[in-house]
Amino acid sequence: MDERKIVIASDHGGFDLKNELIKYLASIDFEICDLGTYNKESCDYPYYAKKVSEAILCGDFKKGILVCGTGIGMQISANRFKGIRAACPQNCYCARMSRQHNDSNVLTLGQRVLGVDAAIEILNVWLNTEFEGGRHQRRIDMLDE
Ligand code: RB5
Repeated sequence: MDERKIVIASDHGGFDLKNELIKYLASIDFEICDLGTYNKESCDYPYYAKKVSEAILCGDFKKGILVCGTGIGMQISANRFKGIRAACPQNCYCARMSRQHNDSNVLTLGQRVLGVDAAIEILNVWLNTEFEGGRHQRRIDMLDE
């Protein structure tokens, strides 16, 4: 699967940050699939979390990004789907750990929590950190048992 292909969505609370992330991802040559929302009208974050989760679980994408006001609603929603490991890191250390130890396949971010620069920094760490495997693979396998 193309590593530079990514799926993204937000609710109204994450709409502006989602657009900034799309601009950034395009500037570093990612192919982006934007599953909405497409305006700032109030909408329901679980709907968008489901869309991104399903796009990953059906094999179309390896990784996805979800943005809402806090990142928390998206994280809770996406983690309802078996095989999705959504992380909502507040800093680069947690972003790195969520990849190295948890093999997170969805990054959730909060527009009302993080500035654009901090969100992009977290995104970069998350995109560029590999899963360590080994004992962490065993633990991840236990999640889906
Ligand atoms: C919408 O107001 C807000 O609740 C939502 O974006 C998100 O933060 C939920 O977790």
